[in-house]
Amino acid sequence: MEIYLETERLVLRRFTADDADLLIELDSDPAVMRYLSGGEATAPEVVRDRHLPYIIAGYEKHPGLGLFAAHERDGGAFVGWFHLRPEPDGPLDEAELGYRLRQASWGKGYATEGSQALLQKGFAELGLCAIWAATMAMNSGSRRVMEKLSMSLTGTLPTPDDMMTVEGAEHGGVRYEITKERWEQR
Ligand SMILES: CC(C)(COP(=O)(O)OP(=O)(O)OC[C@H]1O[C@@H](n2cnc3c(N)ncnc32)[C@H](O)[C@@H]1OP(=O)(O)O)[C@@H](O)C(=O)NCCC(=O)NCCS
Repeated sequence: MEIYLETERLVLRRFTADDADLLIELDSDPAVMRYLSGGEATAPEVVRDRHLPYIIAGYEKHPGLGLFAAHERDGGAFVGWFHLRPEPDGPLDEAELGYRLRQASWGKGYATEGSQALLQKGFAELGLCAIWAATMAMNSGSRRVMEKLSMSLTGTLPTPDDMMTVEGAEHGGVRYEITKERWEQR
């Protein structure tokens, strides 16, 4: 297992080709997918043939960045994933933070804990100067995580065409950001 980082309660590691079932199970919970697909599960073949190969290829393309599996240090239960990665054609010193956790892991502070460690690594070790995150305006839990990370609301976003049927689509999305300077001063 290739450990990416450790926090007080979590271990983040690279995904491997054997991890499709973890991702399929995560994306099959309507509550997890509520503000992503409107609750619809991701098709297993899409996870196997597109998502997982893309995640694994990303480790080579952008060393140090990517999407990582999170497990509890105590017992090893799969918690979900976090990502820190540049936009496809964006600057390499900026990255997007993201997270998707199993419902059983919600409400324990894990999203905040994993994200804090990623921001620290991104700014202190990976040379990032800004980290941003986006979510549906209605996704209060995700917004709260961004606020607890000292990220600032920097703008609103239109709902992507393929998310127009998601609950709250009419309210659009929000973008939060934090600079290295702000992170160090928080
Ligand atoms: C959003 C998500 C990552 C939060 O994970 P988590 O580990 O429960 O988050 P944390 O415990 O670190 O913090 C959540 C905060 O939001 C608050 N919160 C959670 N749900 C909320 C809601 N519906 N309304 C308002 N606040 C909410 C919590 O009370 C907590 O704040 P607090 O510490 O001030 O009490 C998790 O629910 C998830 O994976 N959801 C499904 C996928 C998703 O929506 N991902 C984000 C897409 S951009």
